Amino acid sequence: MQQKKINTIKNFINLNEIDRDELYNILTFGLAAKNDKTGYSNLLKNKSLILLFDEPSTRTRISFELAINQLGGHCIFLDSSTSQLGRGESIKDTAKVLSRYVDGVIIRNASHKDLNEFANNSDCSVINALTNLSHPCQIMADLMTLHEHMGSIENINIAWVGDGNNVANTWIQASQIFGFNLNMAVPSQFSPNKNYLKLALDNKAKINITENINDVVSNADCIVTDTWVSMNDKETNKEEKIKILEQYQVNEKLFEKTPKHAVFLHCLPAHRGQEVTNEVIDSPRSLVYQQAENRLHIQKGILKYCFGI
Ligand code: CP
Ligand code: NVA
Repeated sequence: MQQKKINTIKNFINLNEIDRDELYNILTFGLAAKNDKTGYSNLLKNKSLILLFDEPSTRTRISFELAINQLGGHCIFLDSSTSQLGRGESIKDTAKVLSRYVDGVIIRNASHKDLNEFANNSDCSVINALTNLSHPCQIMADLMTLHEHMGSIENINIAWVGDGNNVANTWIQASQIFGFNLNMAVPSQFSPNKNYLKLALDNKAKINITENINDVVSNADCIVTDTWVSMNDKETNKEEKIKILEQYQVNEKLFEKTPKHAVFLHCLPAHRGQEVTNEVIDSPRSLVYQQAENRLHIQKGILKYCFGI
């Protein structure tokens, strides 16, 4: 029988399951790794990881592969369609087997429930690389970007505009943990996850939700949006959803209502002309490429956290 390593395993699945101080350590390490690109090259020595991706990815996949390589680790990419998962092998068996080979599995999965099932059956660290419910690695990169730009993320005003999707849910968790103000303009039929929201509000998170886009912009330090149709969107009528969200577009007219210093974030990929216009995403106030670059640096912090090194 393999000895269970459960007590020493650290997963990165939901921000609100991780200590605030640990999350700050991840941020600090992300900044350090960015300033010392060739440093820490032995941090993952003798560590192997699998990237198990069910869905497309540009940034998350490449930033993790590079981060692991640059830290001296080894990684293997696996997708469902070319593994036995695609032929119906159970998550439990897959998790039990893969976690005997490697130290960590980074999973992009259509179902948060399946991710939890994998983690519950795994004897190695599991990292959430996006599910239908959350995208914690992304929000850590976003916070790192705002920290770089503003010097602090305490008490800032974030305006979320658009769909209440997985990325919005994770901003809710981040607001609960880091204590910044999160003002969300979301149509009621596309509200964020009710349990995430309730938990955050029960923990005194400073979150307001409105349907009126004008309510969230006047004091915004940062406007954030994301695609109106996500990879795991269950909406049957996507065209109708897009129609409803049209009044939530982040455009120049909206940006004119923000303070002069306000910046723009988008996790990408963007649907230019839908949730954001070219004028905004290409403007000097847009930090989207810095944000995308920071995925690489913050992944190093996340890996360091998981492996306790
Ligand atoms: N933002 C993000 O997760 O991008 P990818 O889907 O390209 O990984
Ligand atoms: N909300 C988007 C994020 C993509 C990185 C999606 O889930 O498709």
